[in-house]
Amino acid sequence: MAGHRQTQHRCKSRIRAGLLTVQRVLLSPRYRTWTWTLLLCLALLLFLLVCNIRTFIYVIRLQEWSIYRFACWPSTSQRVDVTSSPDLFISHGFHPTVGIGNLLFMYASLWGIARKNGLTPTISHIKLHDFMELELAPESFFDLNDCGNFVFGMETCCIYDASSEFITSVAPGRNVSLWGYFQSWKYFHPEYQFAIRDQFRFKPNVVTQANAIIDKAIAGSPTFELKTDYRSGNRSRSRTLVGIHIRRGDILIPERVTFGHTVPTKAYYSHALDYLRAKQVVDAVYIVCTNDAEWARANLQLPNMYLVEDQQPEVDLAVLSMTDHLVLSTGTFSFFIGYLSDAQTVIYYSRWPEPGSEFAAMTNLPDFWLPEWIALE
Ligand SMILES: *[C@@H]1O[C@H](CO)[C@@H](O)[C@H](O)[C@H]1NC(C)=O
Ligand SMILES: *[C@@H]1O[C@H](CO)[C@@H](O)[C@H](O)[C@H]1NC(C)=O
Repeated sequence: MAGHRQTQHRCKSRIRAGLLTVQRVLLSPRYRTWTWTLLLCLALLLFLLVCNIRTFIYVIRLQEWSIYRFACWPSTSQRVDVTSSPDLFISHGFHPTVGIGNLLFMYASLWGIARKNGLTPTISHIKLHDFMELELAPESFFDLNDCGNFVFGMETCCIYDASSEFITSVAPGRNVSLWGYFQSWKYFHPEYQFAIRDQFRFKPNVVTQANAIIDKAIAGSPTFELKTDYRSGNRSRSRTLVGIHIRRGDILIPERVTFGHTVPTKAYYSHALDYLRAKQVVDAVYIVCTNDAEWARANLQLPNMYLVEDQQPEVDLAVLSMTDHLVLSTGTFSFFIGYLSDAQTVIYYSRWPEPGSEFAAMTNLPDFWLPEWIALE
């Protein structure tokens, strides 16, 4: 008994001595900085893990084309017998940092894929809710990361995958999680064009702002004449409006250019305007929405040109989609300017993405631009 207690005692004091040595070494001037750095890193890691594991995963995966792929974890929702639960859901993660053009494609494609497969679409809050009349209200009951879900992902951005029409036969009785960009009109057009356009109507405050801009553009042109019916909300205006989108800025950073992003050249805009003139679009008011007004002023010399600089993107989208003829730029935002408009002519830039680039390899242009639109370079 006494011997046992003695061993225990000896053991304890040895541990204490050991700990003291470790403490002395760690706090010695030589290692002190390292110790503190290590402790700080551990604390940070613990904080991220405990407080916000999902955000943490999002953050380390945020790269443009490798958008967040779901890791799965055991169900948090009550599992219901499939036969007694007719409602199967489909949702999309809506990558948190992407722009409005990407979100519009994700929403429209989610809608189309859901309808084609007889699934019920559901989403949590996204930026589009703030300024559009979406039919799907923000909900949070659905668990995208439930291991029981069937995951349908797209590695590429802009190629239509027809197998998206047969998800329910591949995965009967399962909820579906989508990830990827789904940037092709074929996911939702022509079948659901009216449903989509109806949901992408702007909220009244955006319409008011857009109308004010168009009023100003018309009023500023010398041969201004405002008809009373326009004031009362009749969209047929006294002047023909040509909408021009010039997107530059962020798309011109070296990594994006290397990846295959391009922006339209001065020659493209002049070809597009020649094309419109040949179609008797004359004496129009030209409304230019851009994030590079300097470039626009230097490269477009038009009579009756009205520059809309650095507006909120949804206001640009609303203004341009109300015009009669459109000269688009590149990308998803430009696609939806055309798609949401009633424009008689929609012209887009054909040298996007850069032929031969990595971006071009994941893009099939006929899946991206509508066939009736006009490609110019
Ligand atoms: C589908 O999702 C709903 C809502 O989260 C859930 O109640 C249901 O049990 C799920 N069904 C299956 C088959 O996983
Ligand atoms: C709008 O104005 C045009 C031309 O002024 C007219 O032909 C059209 O009927 C009007 N539409 C409505 C809904 O008032």
